[in-house]
Amino acid sequence: MVIGIIGILVAAAYVLSTFEHLHPPPSVGFPGYIYPNQEVCDEYGGVLGSDGASCVYNETRWGSTGIDNGAWPFGDSLQVNAEMTSVDGLPPFPNAILFNWATIFVLAAGNLSAIDFQQRCMAATAPQTAARGCILAGVITLAVTLPVAYMGGLARLFYGPDSAYAAFEVNTCSAPLGLPTCAQWLPDPNAFLKLCATQFPIVLGAWGLIGIAAASMSTSAGALLAISTIMARNVGGKVGDPELRAAGFMLSFARAHVPVVITIGALIAAAYNETGYLLVVAFDIALSSTIAPLLAIVHAPNRITPSGGVVALLGGMSTRVILEFALPKDGSFVLPYGQYAYGYGEGQAGLPSFVDAPDGGTWNAAACDAPRLRDWTGLDSLVSPLVCTALLFGVSAWDLRRMRQGRPPLLSRLVPAHWLVPVVATRSSDCTATTEDPTKTQTATHSHLVLAPK
Ligand SMILES: *[C@@H]1O[C@H](CO)[C@@H](O)[C@H](O)[C@H]1NC(C)=O
Repeated sequence: MVIGIIGILVAAAYVLSTFEHLHPPPSVGFPGYIYPNQEVCDEYGGVLGSDGASCVYNETRWGSTGIDNGAWPFGDSLQVNAEMTSVDGLPPFPNAILFNWATIFVLAAGNLSAIDFQQRCMAATAPQTAARGCILAGVITLAVTLPVAYMGGLARLFYGPDSAYAAFEVNTCSAPLGLPTCAQWLPDPNAFLKLCATQFPIVLGAWGLIGIAAASMSTSAGALLAISTIMARNVGGKVGDPELRAAGFMLSFARAHVPVVITIGALIAAAYNETGYLLVVAFDIALSSTIAPLLAIVHAPNRITPSGGVVALLGGMSTRVILEFALPKDGSFVLPYGQYAYGYGEGQAGLPSFVDAPDGGTWNAAACDAPRLRDWTGLDSLVSPLVCTALLFGVSAWDLRRMRQGRPPLLSRLVPAHWLVPVVATRSSDCTATTEDPTKTQTATHSHLVLAPK
C-alpha cells in the first residue's frame, strides 16, 4: 500500500516537472479554421480570412494537412472556478453543477459511516488521537489525489477531442459548438491506462498503476472483512444462543462469512464494472440511512430509540430508492437551466460555424434540434438524509412517550426484545492498559440507559 502510494506520488512529480502543457492549449486548427479571438490569432500567426475580418489558420506556417480538430477554441484549463458556481460555468458545454456539489457532500458526509473513518476512530485511544488521525488522513488524501487529478488534464491533452485518437458520433450537431455533424466526442474509457502505458517511462507508469491497484485492493480487503464481521456480530450473533457468542466462536463465525461476502462482491464486480460510480452509490446509501442515527447517538443520545433508528434507516433508504426512479433522469447529470443545457441534435448539412467559407455553405445552427437536458440526480442524495433525520426524531419521540407511559417499545412486537439491546462495546481497559476517556464512558452508559428497554 505505502509502496503504491509512493508510486503515485513519484509518477505525479514526474508529470508536473516534465510536461510543458498539463492540459490542451487553444487549438491550432486546420486550413480554413477561424480563430475565436485576437489573442489566439496572434499566438498562431493567423492570416486574414476571405471576409476581410476574421483571422484564420496560417497554411504557410502550419501546413495544408491541419494540426488538430479545432475542438478547443480557447484551450482547456486546470481549474474553472465558475464550474462550481454557475450552471453556465463550462461554456460551451453543459455543467453538472448540482451533481458535482451533491457528490462532494455525499462522499464527505457518507464517509462518516465508511470503514476508513470508523477504523481510524475506533482504533484511537482518545478523541484527540482520532481527530489528529482524521486530519492527517485528509492531508495525505489531498497530497495523493490532487496530482492525479492533474493527470486528467494530461489525458485530455493526449487522448482528448483534439488528439489524433479522437472519435466522434457522426450524426450529431451542436449549436454552441458550431458543429453540424460529428459534434459529440466519444471519450476513450481507457485513456488514463493508455496515458500511463505510453507517455510515462515504463517503470513509472507501472509503479503508478500498481499504486492504484494497491489502493483498490486494500479498500476492498478492509470492506470485505468489515462486512463479514458486522454480518457475524449484528445479524448472525443476534440469532441463536447467547452463550455461543464468546470471542473465539465469533472470530470463526466472522471468518466463515468472508468467502460468502467475497462471492457476492465478485458477482457485483463482474456484472457492473463501474468502480467509481459504485463507490458513490455505496456512500449515497450510507448517507441516506445511517449518518443521521450515527450523529444522533453521539450528540443527542437521550432523544432517540432503537425503533426510531430502524424506521429512519428503512425510511431513508426507501426514499433514496423511490427518488432514484421518480426524479427525471436522462443520464446527463445536467439540470434543465442555463443556455448550454442541451444535448446533441441530428446531423445537419453544411460547414461548421468556425470554418472560413468564401462561397457560403456554413450551416444554419438554428436548424440543430437538440433536446433540453433534464437530470435531477443529486437531489435524491440530498433529500434522503433529511427524511431519515425527520423519521429518526419523530418516531423516537413517539417511542419515548410510549415508554414513559409504561408501554413496550414500538419494535418489540416485531422482533425479540434482546434484539433491541445494544451490543455492549468492549471497553478499552479490557484490552489495553490505557485509561478510558471519562466523557466517552459517560456517553456510552448514557445511551445504554435510554436504548435498553427495561
Ligand atoms: C504565416 O506564417 C508564415 C510562416 O511562418 C509567416 O512568415 C507569416 O508572417 C504568417 N502570417 C501572418 C499574418 O502572421
